[in-house]
Amino acid sequence: MYLCLYFLVATALAHSWVERLMVIDTSGKMTGQPGYIRGTVTRLDPLFNDFQMQHLLPATNENEVSESDRMCKNSQTFGNYSTTLPALWAKPGSYIALQHQENGHVTLPENSPQKESSGMIYIYGTSNPSEDDTLRSIHRVWDCNGRGGDGRGRLLAVRPFDDGQCYQINNGNISRSRQAAYPKKKLLIHQRLLYHLL
Ligand SMILES: *[C@@H]1O[C@H](CO)[C@@H](O)[C@H](O)[C@H]1NC(C)=O
Ligand SMILES: *[C@@H]1O[C@H](CO)[C@@H](O)[C@H](O)[C@H]1NC(C)=O
Repeated sequence: MYLCLYFLVATALAHSWVERLMVIDTSGKMTGQPGYIRGTVTRLDPLFNDFQMQHLLPATNENEVSESDRMCKNSQTFGNYSTTLPALWAKPGSYIALQHQENGHVTLPENSPQKESSGMIYIYGTSNPSEDDTLRSIHRVWDCNGRGGDGRGRLLAVRPFDDGQCYQINNGNISRSRQAAYPKKKLLIHQRLLYHLL
């Protein structure tokens, strides 16, 4: 079944996006081929820049999200996958990981003193996405039973942006203490991942 996932970082100014999706097997390991979100531009592209992936709302200079603000970035409103950056294939009922970078929102809180924390991530799913989906018609509208709003989709999960272990390498005290507490055992895989992602 084709499932479209909407990934929403609830804090303003959090410039992170889903870099990669993986299926998690019954032992908790990531398995199989990676998948990507629609219209992904790889960081390996020499012309890559963050603006190609980030979708900042409100779209205008107003302070509030408007009725017309779209759920997805223009280049990501349809199944714009490529052969090298395909959708994730997962069986119904699978557990999946949405991998994103913390970009300092966790390890360098001093960069955003206006925020209390790195916030929560809301994950919505639908097998019937529309190019016109707006934030206001989905976020805090679709519910976990699929009965909210127009009923085309549902809230799958709400998770903290900070899983308590993530870090990017920098000299901040949080990153340094996590580097020591959660050394990447599979350094090769981690590096390959970083290579993929950075
Ligand atoms: C599809 O995605 C690619 C990024 O991989 C982007 O360059 C392209 O403009 C997108 N196509 C459309 C019609 O938005
Ligand atoms: C990092 O430093 C801040 C400010 O000194 C302190 O509040 C915090 O507990 C420290 N965190 C860690 C993980 O060491």
